Amino acid sequence: MNQEQRETIYKQAKEWVLEAGATIREKINEPLEINTKSNPNDLVTTMDKNTEDFFVTRIKKNYPEHYVLSEEGYGDELESLGGTVWILDPIDGTMNFVHQKRNFAISLGIYYDGIGEIGLIYDVMNDNLYTAKRGAGAYKNNVKLENLQGEKKLEESIVSLNHFWLCENRLVDEQVMQDFVRTIRGTRTYGSAALEFSFLAEGIIDGYLTMSLSPWDIAAGIIIVNEVGGVTSTIHGDELNLLEKSSVLTCNPSLKEQIVNDYMEKGKK
Ligand code: IPD
Ligand code: CA
Ligand code: CA
Ligand code: CA
Repeated sequence: MNQEQRETIYKQAKEWVLEAGATIREKINEPLEINTKSNPNDLVTTMDKNTEDFFVTRIKKNYPEHYVLSEEGYGDELESLGGTVWILDPIDGTMNFVHQKRNFAISLGIYYDGIGEIGLIYDVMNDNLYTAKRGAGAYKNNVKLENLQGEKKLEESIVSLNHFWLCENRLVDEQVMQDFVRTIRGTRTYGSAALEFSFLAEGIIDGYLTMSLSPWDIAAGIIIVNEVGGVTSTIHGDELNLLEKSSVLTCNPSLKEQIVNDYMEKGKK
């Protein structure tokens, strides 16, 4: 994708994200049809579906040769990331959307031949838009975000993670995870992967550790975090495959080795 194409697609994508967000805000107090998917806590609403439909209809009309990878089934079934792929989560943080009417985001990452070109994360109710274009830095509401500070100590770090890490799980020994949370300064759980990536890019947390996320949860975040010098991998430090679910570690680069070697590998089941 050349710079001119990237610029044109970015402008269009940003317009759609803001428009979709405005619609969600307008309808935030309207009655919702809420259904469950894989389990009683895995929620989906008509707003998730309508928002995804809004994007997919427009992408397919304006860019018929592009592909869409998205959560609610309106996109394509992809076996490769060849060509231009819009990776979309129409509402990331549906549980927050339903219970809190806030703390959710629209997440859109645009990839060309597997390379992250454009990332947009819209914190809808706060009207905060995080954006990045490959090689051109990351922004919050058009203000450039600073590069993540050089040497960060684990003892002075805030890491986002959820309670599942401390329950019996299939990935990492619970004792090792307890050592980890005792070592770091604090934990946070925001309930939207896209927002946790945005907060890392903003420098208000230092890492985010999660057992299983889908491509649409992280596609935009990876690009935004990358533009401020952050790193993203599986919890074992391996490269992510954006066609599959995976564990995810995104953090200040100076923390990665320690988190991976001293905790994730040490406690690996
Ligand atoms: C979820 C959120 C949540 C994460 C879940 C995701 P959804 O996305 O990002 O923070 O812990 O694993 O599935 O379903 O609300 O789009
Ligand atoms: Ca979901
Ligand atoms: Ca999601
Ligand atoms: Ca979602």
